[in-house]
Amino acid sequence: MKGIVLAGGSGTRLYPITMGISKQLIPVYDKPMIFYPISVLMLAGIRDILIISTPDDLPGFRRLLGDGTRLGVHFSYAEQPRPEGLAQAFIIGREFIGDEDVCLVLGDNIFHGQGFTAMLERGVRNAAERNTATIFAYPVKDPHRFGVVTLDDDGMPLRIIEKPAEPESNFAVVGLYFYPNDVVDIAARVTPSARGELEITSVNHAYLEQKRLNVECFGRGFSWLDTGTVDSLMEASSYVEAIQKRQGFFIAALEEVAFRRGFITAAQLKKLAAPMLNCDYGDYLNNLANRCLKS
Ligand code: DAU
Repeated sequence: MKGIVLAGGSGTRLYPITMGISKQLIPVYDKPMIFYPISVLMLAGIRDILIISTPDDLPGFRRLLGDGTRLGVHFSYAEQPRPEGLAQAFIIGREFIGDEDVCLVLGDNIFHGQGFTAMLERGVRNAAERNTATIFAYPVKDPHRFGVVTLDDDGMPLRIIEKPAEPESNFAVVGLYFYPNDVVDIAARVTPSARGELEITSVNHAYLEQKRLNVECFGRGFSWLDTGTVDSLMEASSYVEAIQKRQGFFIAALEEVAFRRGFITAAQLKKLAAPMLNCDYGDYLNNLANRCLKS
């Protein structure tokens, strides 16, 4: 399976911060925002990852992430000149996807909670073994801001509507989507919505009509964090700080995820930590490497 991180857009709700830098490069506590969605793809076992962003912002992502070799993955890059909709990721990424299944994650979505890796693995398997798509629903207080899915008593999706004025349920569809390979053809047939975008909800609707859409619901112990406004960005940073300081486990440390998934060895992890020993992040990686080299 291939992975795509969509990290474009203009970030106007974070002006003036995002006037000089991409939204997905600004920090959420101690690391760039895009680390969080990249860690999700890596946790799903995906090693071939396309970063899509604006022509202005791509150089910043290249500088930060390089070609991925150091993490045992491969990053490629593609431009989305204008934010014409999430489904455009599959049009821009068509060649990259080739004949594989694909997972799309939005560059500003943050996920954290127990059992997440198993859910991701189900998304991968549903595409590979059942030729079906998987999306994830999260209960929110303000569903009208999101794609909203209505489920029947057995948890099967009945309807899915983008930003409904009067939501039928409080289940928002989060920015993480697993699809079989035919998503490239389905996305190619999507026409712009009333707001002029190629909506991911139209793609999901097509799978729903074909009875090929799975919806996994996150429970109350799970966190899906918003980074859309200055306040929500601060709250996300505080959340990451609180968890890391309390538990001693870092969230979305890419080098750690690469090591735990077996993409790199403990010796390689130690090498990656070496230039970062002046900060907690590097210390954390170095200690992890030392513990694993000893045992
Ligand atoms: O966050 C989940 C929600 O994401 C879903 O519930 C909705 O169904 C889905 O449509 C989307 O909602 P928004 O339309 O509110 O997403 P937004 O326009 O804020 O874009 C999400 C991120 O993707 C944002 O960081 C900008 C980036 N983006 C967006 C568009 C439309 C792109 O990189 N390219 C784009 O063309």
